[in-house]
Amino acid sequence: MAKRPETIFYCKDCGNETPRWEGRCPACGEWNTLVEAPRQGHAGRRGGKKASSAAARPGPGTGAEPRPLKAFTAETLPRLRFPLNEFDRVLGGGAVPGGSLLVGGEPGIGKSTLLLQALAALAAENGKDERPLLYVSGEEAPSQIAARGLRIDEQARESRHEHEARYDFNSERLQLAAETNLEAILDLFERLRPCVAVIDSVQTLRDAELASPPGALGQVRECTMALVDAARRHEIALFLIGHVTREGTLAGPKTIEHVVDAVLSFEGDTRLGLRCLRALKNRFGSVDEVGLFEMTGFGLREVPDPSRALLDGAGEDLDKGPGTAVGALSEGSRILLVEVQALTVPAPGGGSPRRRASGLDPNRLAMLLAVLETKAGVPFGMLDVFASAAGGLEIDEPASDLPLALALASVATSRPVRGKLVAAGEVGLGGELRPVARLEARLAEARRLGFNAILVPARGKVAAPQGLKLLRAANLKEALALGLA
Ligand code: TYD
Ligand code: MG
Repeated sequence: MAKRPETIFYCKDCGNETPRWEGRCPACGEWNTLVEAPRQGHAGRRGGKKASSAAARPGPGTGAEPRPLKAFTAETLPRLRFPLNEFDRVLGGGAVPGGSLLVGGEPGIGKSTLLLQALAALAAENGKDERPLLYVSGEEAPSQIAARGLRIDEQARESRHEHEARYDFNSERLQLAAETNLEAILDLFERLRPCVAVIDSVQTLRDAELASPPGALGQVRECTMALVDAARRHEIALFLIGHVTREGTLAGPKTIEHVVDAVLSFEGDTRLGLRCLRALKNRFGSVDEVGLFEMTGFGLREVPDPSRALLDGAGEDLDKGPGTAVGALSEGSRILLVEVQALTVPAPGGGSPRRRASGLDPNRLAMLLAVLETKAGVPFGMLDVFASAAGGLEIDEPASDLPLALALASVATSRPVRGKLVAAGEVGLGGELRPVARLEARLAEARRLGFNAILVPARGKVAAPQGLKLLRAANLKEALALGLA
């Protein structure tokens, strides 16, 4: 009698199961939706003593015994704090043992470097915990990883500043393994009982029981679920690295976002030095925090004063030409001063004009252009419009409306924005300015960086700090009159 196949295929749209792969789901008729999966599921195959269904599985860092609600809140969860502040803050104040995180980003952005440094920073903390810190790579040879570590180490020793993290790449705790086989990695978890494990990357993992190649949706999904489950049982803080392209063509990481407890994204312009770590989802903390790093010739460095880094020498040379404005924007617990730029050129051949935003929301750009035209009399008609936030940062704060509107109006009218001015305010469809939160903190940051005026909505109470002129506008038209030179 023929042996029953070890794997099945299921449709990720309708859930229908079939014994073999087909291009089209026989049940719902969708194309390319069949994903390979083991017939049994991993929980059944491994750790049979503890066969855990998703529902019966205890949460990270907890026993199955009931405990009071307050024992499960983000504040009371046991935390593994990383002595790498920009990293630790985005996690929500450390990783949670038994919890799993996906760190996504474009190839070459610095994910491997970041996680290796995070482990080395933990290793540098003496005497706290002796459990291994495991780095499993399917991408690079251990000798390559070691060489990178030692290079970072050398430089860190030479030029250490007060604020910089300490690393120990020579620690016995820091263990490297080159492995892509799922069973072998699960074995490592079992034997080493690491307190942290990094898997670099999910796209290289392979469950030998599945026929599909590494990187296939079924492989990524099954391997991730098995690792997340094992991490939970062994109370390992698990970091999974996943490559994501700008177009999102690698589907793997997207499909596992709901399997993990947190999803971090490491972003930035690979040609520039600045890198931004943000949480897209975090069961254990807020998603507002951003961590800023600079990629140097010797690894990543924490950026201690992000506003200053972003403005790139603000205070001295703020008299840029038309099309540039500075916003005081709220990012998590911090205020960042960010330069917003706009450029217009006549649309070629009278075709329909292009509107492009980088680091800014294209819908906000379109809305602001419409409001500028209709409520403030600034025409953009047949012009191509480009807008960007400096530093490769992704801005999604309502208060960025006003600096963006200023930059747009400035370039369209060839009038520069008033020198040493920052702006913060949300713009409504009627051209009215809406108050923004945390105005005092924005004022303080603007003053600290040597600005002498801040343009804000007229509504909302605030006292001007010394040395800073408070310019208040009720609507966009007034704001342009006050903000443009
Ligand atoms: P990497 O961490 O390998 O990125 P990812 O894992 O996201 O693919 O880093 C890739 C780039 O970073 C690489 O192109 C070189 C650069 N880099 C530096 O500039 N300095 C360094 O010290 C290191 C380690 C990398
Ligand atoms: Mg890498």
